[in-house]
Amino acid sequence: MLLTLHPVAVLPIFLRLVSGISIRDNQRRNDTNSSAAAIQWATCDPALAIDPSLSCGFFEVPLDYHNASVGIGKLALIKANATASRRGTMFLNPGGPGVSGIETLNSISALVLNSTGGEFDIVSWDPRGVGSLTVPGDVFCFDSVDDYNTFWNGTVELNGIEMTGNFTDQADIDRLMSQAPLTQTKYEELGQRCMNHSDGSILQYIGTAATVRDMVAMAHALDGPGGLINYWGQSYGTLLGAWFIGMFPDRVGRVILDGVLDPTLFGTEEAALAWSALLVDDDHAYEGFYTACALAGSENCTLASPGQSPAEVDDNIQSLLKAAHDFTLAADGPVAVTSGIIRATMRPEIYFPSGWADLANTVLPKLAQGVQQEVGNGSSKGTGGMSVARSWLGKRSESDTVPYTTQAILCGDSVNLTETGIAEVFENIIKTSQNISHMFASAWPFASYYCSTWPVRAVERFQGSFSNLTLANRVLVIGNTFDPATPFSSAKNLTDTLGDQAAIVRLNTFGHTTLAAPSACIGDIVRAYMKDGTLPEDNNTVCEVDLDFEIFPGVTVESVMANLPHDAGTL
Ligand SMILES: *[C@@H]1O[C@H](CO)[C@@H](O)[C@H](O)[C@H]1NC(C)=O
Ligand SMILES: *[C@@H]1O[C@H](CO)[C@@H](O)[C@H](O)[C@H]1NC(C)=O
Ligand SMILES: *[C@@H]1O[C@H](CO)[C@@H](O)[C@H](O)[C@H]1NC(C)=O
Ligand SMILES: *[C@@H]1O[C@H](CO)[C@@H](O)[C@H](O)[C@H]1NC(C)=O
Ligand SMILES: *[C@@H]1O[C@H](CO)[C@@H](O)[C@H](O)[C@H]1NC(C)=O
Ligand SMILES: *[C@@H]1O[C@H](CO)[C@@H](O)[C@H](O)[C@H]1NC(C)=O
Ligand SMILES: *[C@@H]1O[C@H](CO)[C@@H](O)[C@H](O)[C@H]1NC(C)=O
Ligand SMILES: *[C@@H]1O[C@H](CO)[C@@H](O)[C@H](O)[C@H]1NC(C)=O
Ligand SMILES: *[C@@H]1O[C@H](CO)[C@@H](O)[C@H](O)[C@H]1NC(C)=O
Ligand SMILES: *[C@@H]1O[C@H](CO)[C@@H](O)[C@H](O)[C@H]1NC(C)=O
Ligand SMILES: *[C@@H]1O[C@H](CO)[C@@H](O)[C@H](O)[C@H]1NC(C)=O
Ligand SMILES: *[C@@H]1O[C@H](CO)[C@@H](O)[C@H](O)[C@H]1NC(C)=O
Repeated sequence: MLLTLHPVAVLPIFLRLVSGISIRDNQRRNDTNSSAAAIQWATCDPALAIDPSLSCGFFEVPLDYHNASVGIGKLALIKANATASRRGTMFLNPGGPGVSGIETLNSISALVLNSTGGEFDIVSWDPRGVGSLTVPGDVFCFDSVDDYNTFWNGTVELNGIEMTGNFTDQADIDRLMSQAPLTQTKYEELGQRCMNHSDGSILQYIGTAATVRDMVAMAHALDGPGGLINYWGQSYGTLLGAWFIGMFPDRVGRVILDGVLDPTLFGTEEAALAWSALLVDDDHAYEGFYTACALAGSENCTLASPGQSPAEVDDNIQSLLKAAHDFTLAADGPVAVTSGIIRATMRPEIYFPSGWADLANTVLPKLAQGVQQEVGNGSSKGTGGMSVARSWLGKRSESDTVPYTTQAILCGDSVNLTETGIAEVFENIIKTSQNISHMFASAWPFASYYCSTWPVRAVERFQGSFSNLTLANRVLVIGNTFDPATPFSSAKNLTDTLGDQAAIVRLNTFGHTTLAAPSACIGDIVRAYMKDGTLPEDNNTVCEVDLDFEIFPGVTVESVMANLPHDAGTL
């Protein structure tokens, strides 16, 4: 996942990593060399992983690789043993930034072992700044959910942005722009809160360059010093991969960059504005969603009425957004299901076609029900609607905490502070809604919006170029045809920059990273690459999704591609 703040999955606070040993019982070490021998793998706590072939352990790292006196941190690791004769380790980072490597490997270890040929231990981890097991872990800026709700009460942060169509209605534009001064003040105050909170002093040590060094230190511990390092990065994990190959070109073993964030764009432009480039295929992915629903028919997709065309299913969704929008504007108080909340809920669900049936048959109908109840009650205080929204916006409910982990990593890594204000961010959202993605450009918030008011940058950022690198081995870049978070053009950009040091493969699907849909063809390419470094001979390789993968009963990715409402873009 990339740059997505909803929904937030948070580990329970007092989780243990390995059976029987809590974090507090674990011994501290002060010599990073000795940790080489010292990762004590043990059975993972069953609350984290019940698969007995997985093991868990801690690994200590210096908080600042250039200043030992800052102190020591501790990473929580998970490992899936090689299933065939072991050739080494492959590290995996699932993105976010902020997604738990432990949770991810627990759910996809079989898939990753299979597509890497079984000869590598797969190791993932909760990077510094992530989760409740790694130290420093998740970043918090509020003491409680009540503090959070009070601070943001009545702001765009909780209510989202109200617009319809292509954001051309002047009343919508004026309404958003009028919220810029308050939002600016709140974002500046948030930065101060994060700095003054107990985690504040640690923020500068959370970041991708340090995480690259953590990975190199882990490789030393697991496979000995100085060797080649294998890595599979998904989504934001490709930025970690790009910084790794930039910082340690002679250590590049097998490196797969899957769902690329263009590191040149990220390293040179303000995150909050550069973000628009990531949305170029959002509306194509959305077209895939409503087309798939129409192909499934009303029997299998409740968003469709009998006999409806894809365009008519789109109309149904636009009508829901419009009803929520109109009710929100007419209401005299807070509204539970705004159109902004519906968009922010839908966007991450569009990432994975395997979840589209659930989005169509469960998530959207519940939101629609919430809107209907609001409209029916004629009052924004309809409790039915409130409970519906609460169940989708986990951040606002009592049982969840509100981490700023994604922002801490992304903004700590991003370009130096600029003068860009929220008004400029809002103007960019309007422009992007009009020209790039009418569905999702207004889905508030994205993590990158916080960066121009984020109080610190990481003590180390990779600021080098990705051109003219000479890598110990060539890397494999993978991009999807219609990826709503990391578009194919981004993967193409990176491949062009790396030149003959990389080859690119396109997975012909909707969705984000190769986890979007199963493809035996991708498995074959990755296995061949892992075996002996073989890459496709040219950059025109296209992999199809397996035909037995169905989005709705009887509806394949291939059939949706063939039925898109219009010729969706060129590659
Ligand atoms: C580091 O470890 C060594 C030997 O294990 C010990 O003598 C020393 O006091 C430790 N230093 C700190 C700062 O804990
Ligand atoms: C630590 O590891 C480095 C790299 O392998 C080695 O050069 C150095 O001598 C080691 N230091 C100690 C104290 O063992
Ligand atoms: C993983 O492999 C190592 C080395 O062969 C072995 O000691 C360990 O028991 C294995 N762990 C699991 C969970 O199978
Ligand atoms: C190293 O860290 C310590 C502790 O935070 C700090 O006092 C010191 O100034 C730092 N040294 C450098 C060179 O930044
Ligand atoms: C991967 O999975 C396929 C299909 O289940 C199987 O045929 C193949 O042997 C597996 N390969 C490895 C290396 O596990
Ligand atoms: C938000 O503000 C409204 C009035 O504007 C107030 O009624 C409500 O209690 C506030 N909620 C919180 C959580 O502060
Ligand atoms: C947005 O604008 C485009 C181009 O003018 C138009 O084709 C499309 O129908 C508009 N979409 C909406 C939802 O208004
Ligand atoms: C809905 O799915 C079922 C299988 O679950 C299938 O038998 C039926 O034909 C599908 N309906 C439509 C309209 O495609
Ligand atoms: C960013 O700020 C750092 C520290 O203040 C400075 O060394 C660096 O030159 C700046 N980079 C750019 C591109 O302005
Ligand atoms: C890369 O190398 C070429 C040829 O040597 C040079 O013209 C170009 O400026 C270099 N690019 C960067 C970003 O260093
Ligand atoms: C690709 O690179 C171009 C030129 O640097 C840039 O304008 C564009 O935004 C990049 N696209 C993506 C998706 O990163
Ligand atoms: C892929 O594209 C890059 C950049 O355009 C090029 O330098 C490289 O040689 C191509 N790789 C292959 C295998 O054709």
